[in-house]
Amino acid sequence: MKNLLVTGGAGFIGSNFTRYMLKKYPQYTLAVYDKLTYAGNLDNLRDIAADARMTFTQGDICDADAVRATLRKYRVDTIVNFAAESHVDRSILDADAFLRTNVIGTYTLLEAAKELGLERFHQISTDEIYGWVTKPAHETDPLIPRSPYAASKASGDLMVNAYYVTHGVPTTITRGSNTIGPYQYPEKAVPLFVTNALENKPLPLYGDGKQVRDWLYVTDHCEAVDLVLHRSKPGEAYNVGGDNERENVEVVKIILDTLDKPSDLVRRVADRSGHDRRYALALEKIRALGWQPRHSFEQALTETIRWYESNAWWWQKIKSGEYREYYEMQYGERLRMSEAVAV
Ligand code: NAD
Ligand code: TYD
Repeated sequence: MKNLLVTGGAGFIGSNFTRYMLKKYPQYTLAVYDKLTYAGNLDNLRDIAADARMTFTQGDICDADAVRATLRKYRVDTIVNFAAESHVDRSILDADAFLRTNVIGTYTLLEAAKELGLERFHQISTDEIYGWVTKPAHETDPLIPRSPYAASKASGDLMVNAYYVTHGVPTTITRGSNTIGPYQYPEKAVPLFVTNALENKPLPLYGDGKQVRDWLYVTDHCEAVDLVLHRSKPGEAYNVGGDNERENVEVVKIILDTLDKPSDLVRRVADRSGHDRRYALALEKIRALGWQPRHSFEQALTETIRWYESNAWWWQKIKSGEYREYYEMQYGERLRMSEAVAV
C-alpha cells in the first residue's frame, strides 16, 4: 500500500496525475491537498470524486500545522508536490504569491517530510529554471532562471537538494517542459489560443512568435513522474520533455487549421518582458530510466484541441469569472494596439 499526498491536485497536471495513479494502482490512496487558488478547480476532479481511494483537503502548503495534520490523517508515505503559482505573466504582474508558495511552501513540505520520516518527497519542477538555452539543457547545467516564476521554481529545487544533502530527506525532482492536455487553465498559451479560436476571438501572439518551447502531453508527463517515483534513487533530478520543439507561430497555425478558423484571428501584440527565446531539454537521463514520450506533437495538440472542443462547460465557466479581469489587464491594451499578422 502506498499513500500519496498530491499537493496542487486540483490544478492541471496534479488532477491528471491523480486520475492516472488511481487507474494504474488500485491499492494506492491519493490525498489531494490544494488551496484552491484561482487555478485550482474541483471540476478537474469531478469524474473521479466518487472514488473512495481519493480524498480532498483544502489547505495551503505554507501552513505547517495543516500539512502535518493531513499527512498524519491519511498515513502519507510520499509527497508529490504539484502545488505552485504557475504562470509567468502573473509573476511579472506580482511575484508575491510565487515566493510564498513556490519557495516557502516547498520548504514547509520538506520540513514535514523530514520530521515525519517520509519515504519520498517528489518535486514537480520545470525546464524554465535553466533559462533561455542555445542547446538542450542537461540536469547538471547551471540554473539561470530569468522570470520571477522561474526564479521561484529554481529556488524550490535548490531547497529540495539542500534537504537531501543536509537532512537525508529522500527527494527526487522532475523538470517538465510545456505541458498540454485536458483541464489546463486557459491563461496558458495553448488553452488560451484554442478557446479564443473556438469563440472566434483574437489570438494574442507575443512579439515575433518565433520563441521556441518543447511540448509534452500531460499523460506522458504523469508517466515520467510515476517512473521516477518508483525507479529512481533519492537525490536525483530528471528532465522530462516531449522532444517536440516548435515555434509559437507554428503552434498557432496548427490550432487554426485543426479548428478550420481563419488566420486573421492572429494578432501580434507587445512582447512579454524578459521573454525567453527557447527552452529545450536533453532527455538521455530519463530515457535511460525507461521512459519516452508516447505522443508526437501533432497527436498531443490534436487531442488537446478536441478535448476543449468537447468540454466547453469546463472552460466557459472559468472564462466568465475572475479570468475576465485578468484578461483585460493582460491583453486589453495590448490588443487595442495590436496588428494582424499572417501565419
Ligand atoms: P496549475 O496552476 O494548473 O495548478 C496549481 C495548483 O496548485 C492549483 O490547483 C492551485 O490551487 C494549487 N496551489 C497554488 N498555491 C497553493 C498553495 N499555497 N497551497 C496549496 N495549493 C496551492 O499548475 P500546473 O500547470 O498544473 O502545474 C503544476 C506543477 O507543474 C507546478 O509546480 C508547475 O510549476 C509545474 N510545471 C508546469 C508545467 C506546465 O506546462 N503547466 C510545466 C512544467 C512544470
Ligand atoms: P505559456 O503557456 O505562458 O508558457 P511559458 O511558461 O513557456 O511561457 O507560453 C508559451 C509560449 O507562448 C511563450 O513563448 C509565450 C507565448 N505566449 C503568447 O505568445 N501569447 C500568449 O497570450 C501567451 C499566454 C503566451
